[in-house]
Amino acid sequence: MRIEIDSVSRVFGGHAAVDGVSLTVGSGEFVVLLGPSGCGKTTLLRLIAGLEEPDGGAIRLDGRPVAGQGPFVGPGERNIGIVFQSYALWPHMTVAGNVGFALKVRGLPRAEREARIARALAQVGLQDHGRRFPFQLSGGQRQRVAVARCLAMSPPIILLDEPLANLDPNLRGAVLREFRQMHRELRSTFVYVTHDQAEAFALADRIAIMDAGRVIQFAPPREIFEEPRTAGVARFVGSGALLPAELLARTSEGRMLVRVLGHQAVVRCAGDMPTGSGMLCLKRRDVALHRTWEPGLIEARVADLRYQGGGEIAVLALPDGQEIEVELGRAEPAPAMGARVGLSARDGWVIPGAVAARASEAA
Ligand SMILES: Nc1ncnc2c1ncn2[C@@H]1O[C@H](COP(=O)(O)OP(=O)(O)OP(=O)(O)O)[C@@H](O)[C@H]1O
Ligand SMILES: [Mg+2]
Repeated sequence: MRIEIDSVSRVFGGHAAVDGVSLTVGSGEFVVLLGPSGCGKTTLLRLIAGLEEPDGGAIRLDGRPVAGQGPFVGPGERNIGIVFQSYALWPHMTVAGNVGFALKVRGLPRAEREARIARALAQVGLQDHGRRFPFQLSGGQRQRVAVARCLAMSPPIILLDEPLANLDPNLRGAVLREFRQMHRELRSTFVYVTHDQAEAFALADRIAIMDAGRVIQFAPPREIFEEPRTAGVARFVGSGALLPAELLARTSEGRMLVRVLGHQAVVRCAGDMPTGSGMLCLKRRDVALHRTWEPGLIEARVADLRYQGGGEIAVLALPDGQEIEVELGRAEPAPAMGARVGLSARDGWVIPGAVAARASEAA
């Protein structure tokens, strides 16, 4: 089922928790809402579910208006499954009872209920736990019961709000794989909230990066990482070091030639900076280390050296304190700790206008 969110806002006490968000989630797509605490992720999820009413804008499910346009459609009539961070199981009901509760309310015959409960519990690997009570389960198992309860309804839309928050790191990887598997099997539309970027990158077809109630970028993981639209996105997903830069020229191949401010270095990079200044985003694979600094190179100091994954890594500190890591060639002797070195960049990504954005962020 397709979800269309059209200029939706939700205001609490004069503050817009969700501020004019427009987003279309395709049928069967897995979208992750990613952003820092308080940016409006849960509120947006609750708006989709019908647990909040928008103060502006409209929401449509497969073209049918459910909010902001015609009569408001409540959560009970939207056919949406929700898994919250606090899994809210009924303590006095068994696992099977919890999973089947909504099916019973819906009036499904017993045989079908039991079949659906068994299938949902098997999907989360709890087929042998149906007769237990929630207090007899671990946190991770309880979370999976909450997921099973949602699956039993086989809803066309599944909303998940930080479902791994209470799991220990070992279990997270396994449950992440389960979510991907479930998504492939069910073909339901998933909207998944997290502030953990590794989770977002592992799961999403597309990631919506949120900040202060707005969606700043909505794109596949690769594009978010490789082509961040703002310095904020680049910093949030760890896209590399960010250096203020100004446009010198466009090359005939459509690339940008930029000067790195404060370094005299010139870099040929990708991106689109029409004029003026911006931020150059440099990743580890873009840069090469030179033993000594000379004009034309970006200046850095060796802040740390370590061995990792079969190679020697130099951690280089830029004058403003940012760090960038460079892998040393096998035959190369490591530079001395604290040594002044130079960096050249064979590529990069430029974000227009971000110098000003950065100054205002600091203000
Ligand atoms: N019912 C409410 N009443 C008043 N303010 C609210 C309410 N719900 C949310 N807010 C405020 O709206 C903003 C967004 O909250 P929301 O819960 O959507 O953030 P979030 O991105 O889910 O954060 P977290 O990652 O911490 O869960 C916050 O400033 C929050 O305090
Ligand atoms: Mg939240």
